[in-house]
Amino acid sequence: MSKIYPIDRIRQDFPILRREVNGNPLIYLDNGATTQKPQTVIDAISGYYTGINSNIHRGVHHLSQLATDAYEVSRAKIRQFIGAAHNHEIIMTSGTTGGINLVAHSYGNEFVHKGDEILISEMEHHSNIVPWQLLCAAKGAKLRVIPMDERGVLDMEAYQLMLNKKTKLVAITYVSNSLGTVNPVRGVISKAHAMGVPVLLDAAQAVHHIALNVQELDVDFLVFSGHKMYGPTGVGVLYGKENWLNAMPPYQGGGDMIKQVTFEKTTFNELPFKFEAGTPNIEAGICLGSAIDYIESIGLDAIAAYENDLMDYATERLLAIDGLRIIGTAPEKSGVISFLLGDLHPYDVGVICDQLGVAVRTGHHCTQPVMDKFGIPGTVRASFAMYNTREDVEALVAALQKASQMLQ
Ligand SMILES: Cc1ncc(COP(=O)(O)O)c(C=O)c1O
Repeated sequence: MSKIYPIDRIRQDFPILRREVNGNPLIYLDNGATTQKPQTVIDAISGYYTGINSNIHRGVHHLSQLATDAYEVSRAKIRQFIGAAHNHEIIMTSGTTGGINLVAHSYGNEFVHKGDEILISEMEHHSNIVPWQLLCAAKGAKLRVIPMDERGVLDMEAYQLMLNKKTKLVAITYVSNSLGTVNPVRGVISKAHAMGVPVLLDAAQAVHHIALNVQELDVDFLVFSGHKMYGPTGVGVLYGKENWLNAMPPYQGGGDMIKQVTFEKTTFNELPFKFEAGTPNIEAGICLGSAIDYIESIGLDAIAAYENDLMDYATERLLAIDGLRIIGTAPEKSGVISFLLGDLHPYDVGVICDQLGVAVRTGHHCTQPVMDKFGIPGTVRASFAMYNTREDVEALVAALQKASQMLQ
């Protein structure tokens, strides 16, 4: 028999969920933007500053060794969490955006030339569009966009036809942050590999909802952000296969990424340090490990099962509201429901929700091309995390009914 999901304990672990907003209990449904933090992560942040604050990798003194050890323990936890083969394949970045820019610059500089092509999809976050546009402009390469249908499902036939000898990289999101679509990433990767093309997966909306293993996926690069997975802001991860990372030049120059510097010539440090110039966000790097500990104490499979059930419930309850239209109706979705209420502007709906303590996000969600595709200015987006409940969904439904009465 499956274990009962410990929702009450989980909610207790997130202190912010006990606060009020505008005189109402906080109903936090903006998890796609950032998640709340459990007490263990909050304690780890203050524990770092009260106990071991020091710069890493360069000191012989006690605190520096403690901080370095804690940082490297966290890297090992991240490796294990995503099933990578080696700790040195885990590059600490500032976030998903930082990881994509690293690959666009470093891989792009070495492997992308005039006339080459980069494939992305129609549902990408701006973070997975603009770095490739900059690269293509600099190199005279071409950015091509894999289409999706009106449900937000990737067109795999079009994708297959777009892959060709000029394709140098496929960069695609695992889960769409504005539609919730879960992409068929295994098929995406195997088709690309059949043509000898590497794949970068943007797992910002996936890594805390779906258990994944980079070796099993055989993905070449994977990026995500700490703050979207119950960890601190300012830290993220680039996983890269060892052979790619070794073949790529450094991205930024500075301390830590060098072996030997003279004015004539510099040699570079080994992985992962080659890609980690300067003092990183040490506290965030360490405490991302605490977030992983917390996720693993519940279990990602249990979290996924619970969240998927909640998504089904929320979809059904939202569709029962007069005039509500869901944007993004792919058969497989995770974490996100985007919608419009009649012809009300998403912003107005969001403001009424906020007055009732319900935090949703409104706007284009950094996916303007998705909004253009659907011919809408934006959506209201409810996005879920491990601590949300059916009561949260009911509070959202009540807020939307109120918005409907007040605004229509
Ligand atoms: C799919 C996706 N990619 C990339 C990003 C950018 O993440 P960050 O701002 O943490 O770098 C986000 C953030 O919302 C996202 O949802």
